[in-house]
Amino acid sequence: MPNSESGLDNVDFQHLYQGDPSAGPKLPWDLGAPQPLVVALADAGEFSGEVLDIGCGLGGNAAFLASRGLRVTGLDCAPAAVEQARARAAVWAAQVTFAVADATELAGYEDRFDTVLDSALYHCLTTDQRHEYLAALGRATRPGARLHVLCFSTALRGGFPDRHLVSEDSLRETVGQAWTIERLEAAAYTTACTPPELAAGVRAMQGADAADFDGSGLQTDEQGRALLPIWQLTAVRGV
Ligand SMILES: C[S@@+](CC[C@H](N)C(=O)[O-])C[C@H]1O[C@@H](n2cnc3c(N)ncnc32)[C@H](O)[C@@H]1O
Repeated sequence: MPNSESGLDNVDFQHLYQGDPSAGPKLPWDLGAPQPLVVALADAGEFSGEVLDIGCGLGGNAAFLASRGLRVTGLDCAPAAVEQARARAAVWAAQVTFAVADATELAGYEDRFDTVLDSALYHCLTTDQRHEYLAALGRATRPGARLHVLCFSTALRGGFPDRHLVSEDSLRETVGQAWTIERLEAAAYTTACTPPELAAGVRAMQGADAADFDGSGLQTDEQGRALLPIWQLTAVRGV
């Protein structure tokens, strides 16, 4: 369903988080736990200072990072996500500041963050919004800040909607304008779904644009969860 209120032209996240029954029983990104790649980044010491989890969804990554002793702010444009993230963090006894904010503006967060995590937000934005988002991140971060992005890559084919697939060139062009890219490599994003469950959910969310997506050809992890081809990017803001 179009989401004209938030400026997105594709998925209505607020509606999904309110339990839109047509979207199926699972949100594919809701592991109820941190994304394994985020755990690996944390283990490698890639988070420090004031951390922003932008497009935080239900807060599994933000709560995990807080459990590692980091000061974490989780922002999302969907009020229903923020409300549920706060409730989950309370159950997990995780100290996270959650708030509603538009990633393309980040008003009120100027000069604030040392590390930014973008786990599956970037590919949700239109091309214009990606440029606005990078400009907003430039305002919201401090010199030398580190940015970690996990976003769908053009290797994810098989009928997945094209507008969510990001090419290496476009990522380098957009992020590289103001950030120095230190790492850009193919990786896998763990979903909460088997390939058939994922295909059903994506078709429900994306409608006719995903009519041909059946999830065949996707790799799975040891729990049978579909793994999606992504770019893993780390970049450093100029001083
Ligand atoms: C695919 S989900 C990923 C959620 C979470 N980061 C994760 O990996 O589990 C994308 C999230 O980005 C949020 N989002 C989309 N557009 C946004 C925007 N312009 N500003 C802030 N959040 C946005 C959605 O509400 C959604 O929670």
